[in-house]
Amino acid sequence: MHPIRIAPSLLAADFARLADEIARVEAAGADWLHVDVMDGHFVPNLTIGPPVVRAIARVATKPLDVHLMITDPWGYAGPFLDAGANVLTVHLEVARHRVDDTRRLFELIHARGARAGIALNPDHGVDDLVPFLDHVDLALVMSVFPGFGGQSFISDVLGGVRRLRDEFGFRGEIEMDGGIGPDTVARCAAAGANVLVAGTAVFGADDLPARIAALRRLAEQAR
Ligand code: DX5
Ligand code: ZN
Repeated sequence: MHPIRIAPSLLAADFARLADEIARVEAAGADWLHVDVMDGHFVPNLTIGPPVVRAIARVATKPLDVHLMITDPWGYAGPFLDAGANVLTVHLEVARHRVDDTRRLFELIHARGARAGIALNPDHGVDDLVPFLDHVDLALVMSVFPGFGGQSFISDVLGGVRRLRDEFGFRGEIEMDGGIGPDTVARCAAAGANVLVAGTAVFGADDLPARIAALRRLAEQAR
């Protein structure tokens, strides 16, 4: 079984004080740092690009879990790997139209010593993940529609997480992202997820170490 990993989403951090926020969340017990990359096309929002990931990598000591919400992951994977991404996840909604190119992209990610992931939106059945499952280290099941932090958890996706484990026998890591906090994290872990992304629930907490410890404890108890 993969360890429970708590991955604070930097989208909810204070971008004007990013180095301090990273130090704070690492000291509080974060396992991975989740970096949300949006291109204003795959999702209706723009966030950060390779230069900022490079700046984050300079100060971070934990792995950078880079979530590409972009329509052209093939064109931009190289720059994000150069910038220091340790986990690079692309969305099924674009990947499914270029299966061979995407498998080659996963090979490139592995050749560069990083982990490869495939993500899917809440309205997308997990069956379409099958052509990719043997080529990735991680599947990311979104529990909100991507684009913004602070949305409500969509519990309908939990069935897909269970099917990935029970029906498809997926042995990689399963990540969930969106609306995860003390009230929802146990259900994610019980369904089979081990990487839990949390933006608002971490950066919005008064006591960061206590919040991360609580998320970890709730997840571990639910398995
Ligand atoms: C949504 C992003 C998430 C987001 C999560 O598009 O992929 O990573 O930052 O934020 P919360 O935890 O606030 O739902
Ligand atoms: Zn994300």
